[in-house]
Formats: sequence, C-alpha cells, structure tokens
Amino acid sequence: MSDSSSPTASRNPPKRFLLCSPDHFDVTFEINPWMSSQRRPDRRKSWREWNALVAGLRAAGAEVHHVPSLPGLSDMVFPTDVGVVDGNRFVRGRFRHPERRAEAAHGATWLREHGFTEIPWPDDPDLYLEGGDVLRFGDVLLCGTGPRTSPEAADHLSQVLDVRVVQVPLVDPRFYHLDMSFCPLDAGRAVCAPGAWDREGQRAVLELVPEPLVISMDEALTFSANSVVVGRTVMMASCPPRIRRQLDDWGFTVCLSPVDEFRKAGGGIRCMSLDLDLLGGARRVGAVRQN
Ligand code: ARG
Repeated sequence: MSDSSSPTASRNPPKRFLLCSPDHFDVTFEINPWMSSQRRPDRRKSWREWNALVAGLRAAGAEVHHVPSLPGLSDMVFPTDVGVVDGNRFVRGRFRHPERRAEAAHGATWLREHGFTEIPWPDDPDLYLEGGDVLRFGDVLLCGTGPRTSPEAADHLSQVLDVRVVQVPLVDPRFYHLDMSFCPLDAGRAVCAPGAWDREGQRAVLELVPEPLVISMDEALTFSANSVVVGRTVMMASCPPRIRRQLDDWGFTVCLSPVDEFRKAGGGIRCMSLDLDLLGGARRVGAVRQN
C-alpha cells in the first residue's frame, strides 16, 4: 500500500499521510453526538469511499501509507487521532475515551516500526491529547482543548516539540476536535468556524490568520472544514457553494471525496488522514521505511 512514486510536480517532497482501511470499521459505541449504534455504516460503501479517498490523495500528489486495521478497533479508520507526528518523531495520542485507547498503542507500533522515534509523556493520567485537535498554521500549532485534549497536554506538546501552541477552547459538542472547525489552507488562509470556539479562542485564531474563510455552523456541519490540503488541491467531503467560490478565487482546486459512511462515526477526511509532517519542517529523506 505504501507509495513512494507519486508524481512530484515541484521540488517539494510529497505530503505523506497515514490511513487505515475500514476492515473493522463500525459504530458500536457512542462517544460523540454523530454516533448512534442504531445507524451502522455500510461495509461496501465504506470501502468504496475509502478507496476513492486514497486514489484522490495520490492523484493530488500525496504519498499514502497504510496502517492495518485490527478487530475491535472500530474507530482506527481515524488515525489522525493516534498522535502528533513530525518528520521523524511523534507524540502518541492519549485518548479521553477508553473505547479508543488501544488505538494509540497500535498507531505507535506502526510509527516506531517505520522509523519514527517516540517522545514519551510524563506519567500523569490527567493528560489527554487527540491528534485531531492539533493543526499547524505557519510556525504555530493550534490546539483545540476541552472535549478531547487537556490544556496541560497542549502545554506539554509545546515544550517537547519546541513550538508555540495556541489553545482554542472548543464549546460545541458537535465539533469536539479542532479539525472539524479549522482547516489551514496556505501561509495566510484557513477555513474557520469560530462558532465552535470560545471568545478567547476566536480572538486568538482570527488574530493569527490574515485571511480567514469564515464559515457558518451550518456550513461546518457538512464537514467542509474537515478537509486535507495537498499543494493547491483541497480534498473535501462536501463543499457548500459559497466556500467553493472563495476557494476558486484563491486558486485552489476542490476535489470532492464524499465519506458519508464515516460521518456516521463523526469523522471526515482529515480525521482519516494522519499528516506525517505536521510541522512541515526539515524531514529526513526516507524516514518512512517502505513495507
Ligand atoms: N468516532 C471518533 C471519535 O469520536 C471520530 C474521530 C474523529 N476524528 C477527528 N480527528 N475529528 O473519536
């Protein structure tokens, strides 16, 4: 599944993502308002959507790696949450909910086996951090706090990665990870749904982002902020017309890749694609060993 021969139009190294196939994807527990064990995903549709997403990411020029799924880890299709990965090192996720905790170990094993070095956590059971809360804008990490990530864990991340972390307290249970209300586009622009943040968080993000594409909560409910950017291509599960017009004007190409089955678990494209170079800094050539 690893692919190191993606087209490289520019001299930039390709963006690398880690995805997990939906062999064991299901909704059997409910840990966010989108999940209902009465509304289970369709297996064939899940596979179709997942394969299309992988193909779309590759067509956009990304390198896609695959961590095998395991029975019982039904949310492992959202590997973004298993850690924060930067080049050749990572901090493993510390899940708030016991239902997802085993994913962190599984993800960490894959990362270690593929040449990444783990940065350990202090021994403190009150530290929670899920990768979906951590996004980079310029040389700053934005970290959603509250539902899934504790403020102290965000501080710890700042220390160990030696990077400024701006905390964004999340206030709407439907947008329980920051990646559902914030999507960095380029050096000056990001999709922002400020209705998901408290007043301090709104102020901090809007001060940081020179050209925010501010979206309404209705627009955010389409998972339009839960997108992945590869060069000038924005992979989106859906794109309301107003957002598409702005992205077109800014010179982005929108590539739609619906993931409706995964939305039943409260996840979208970004949650499904762990960014292996979050800080986008110098990376060691060949850091990911091929399977
Ligand atoms: N069912 C998963 C959960 O509630 C969905 C994870 C979505 N991940 C994300 N990065 N937003 O944890």
